[in-house]
Amino acid sequence: MTPDSSLLLSWYDRHRRTLPWRAEPNQYADPYHVWLSEIMLQQTVVQTVIPYYTRFLEEFPTIADLAHAPQEKVLQLWAGLGYYARARNLHACAQTVCQQGGFPRSIEGLQKLPGIGPYTSRAIAAIAFNIPAVPVDGNVERITARLNAVTNPLPASRPFLAELASELNKTDAAQKRPSDFAQALFDLGATLCSPRSPSCLTCPWRSCCKAAAQNIAETLPARQKKQKRPSRHTVLFYVRDPQGHILLRPRPAKGLLGGTDELPGTPWDTQQPAIPHEDLLNNAFTHYAPLQADWQKYGEVKHIFSHFTLYAHVYGCVLTTKRNYPIDPSYGRFIPFEEAILASVMKKCLLLR
Ligand code: ADE
Repeated sequence: MTPDSSLLLSWYDRHRRTLPWRAEPNQYADPYHVWLSEIMLQQTVVQTVIPYYTRFLEEFPTIADLAHAPQEKVLQLWAGLGYYARARNLHACAQTVCQQGGFPRSIEGLQKLPGIGPYTSRAIAAIAFNIPAVPVDGNVERITARLNAVTNPLPASRPFLAELASELNKTDAAQKRPSDFAQALFDLGATLCSPRSPSCLTCPWRSCCKAAAQNIAETLPARQKKQKRPSRHTVLFYVRDPQGHILLRPRPAKGLLGGTDELPGTPWDTQQPAIPHEDLLNNAFTHYAPLQADWQKYGEVKHIFSHFTLYAHVYGCVLTTKRNYPIDPSYGRFIPFEEAILASVMKKCLLLR
């Protein structure tokens, strides 16, 4: 049975969150704002996104401003949000949209743009253009799993949950207010139907929720047990020149942290089987140090990526005279901290000093 959308919508009318990208009641948000927020919200929580979103709009008030900006500027403002391919696609998408004279007003048209997949196209279509569509993110998966008491685990259950979710808007009330309906689902998932302690007693859909009836809501959606995250180790060299500029090099444009700046050091190897730490260090000092120096141990940074945990062992030195140090450009160049494009892991390393 499709749950009663009018119950959800009237709950939303009373409890909707105020968010910087959200329009006032009875209005539609600017597609540029919706698109920008949706790209930022992928893999990132609302509270983290808000300051980034605000800075982007200050710097790029229109999509044309974003399209015409240099890529380094875009990456710099993005730095810290993670998944840097999103920033490169964002920039490419802005350029395409400007060439086309605006965002396409259909799910299919939106999906042809860089960085826009099934979820984002439906979110933009529904929120900005009031097209009936159910964008299925983690919130909507959770709501759907609970409404239907689907106990088979993610990720295998994902296609089934998407199919069930696509039924959620097949009511008159939802078809009349597609934009509000999509946002109401997000708000329900982010507030009452939360992952760990759902507030079933006050939920507008309590009477039709099978998980609530069976008192199993907080156990859903079930997840396949994850493989343990492997560890990787790297030795990084933190060199500052007499002006305090830092030796940094750009990572390759594609791939992990693509286009951001990094301290030079050893490749981020998988340590399986682990080589003794001393061997890792000796190899690093012999083959990967940018210069001969009296290296000091600055500390260790642990950073969790989706597929591995990185342990960065950071060694540093400060060049004290103005004489020319022969440092091969493959190790990078000295740049001021403020000009660097720093992913969170590198920011943590630099903050050791
Ligand atoms: N999560 C994903 N998209 C969202 C949106 N537009 N508002 C709030 N939370 C969201």
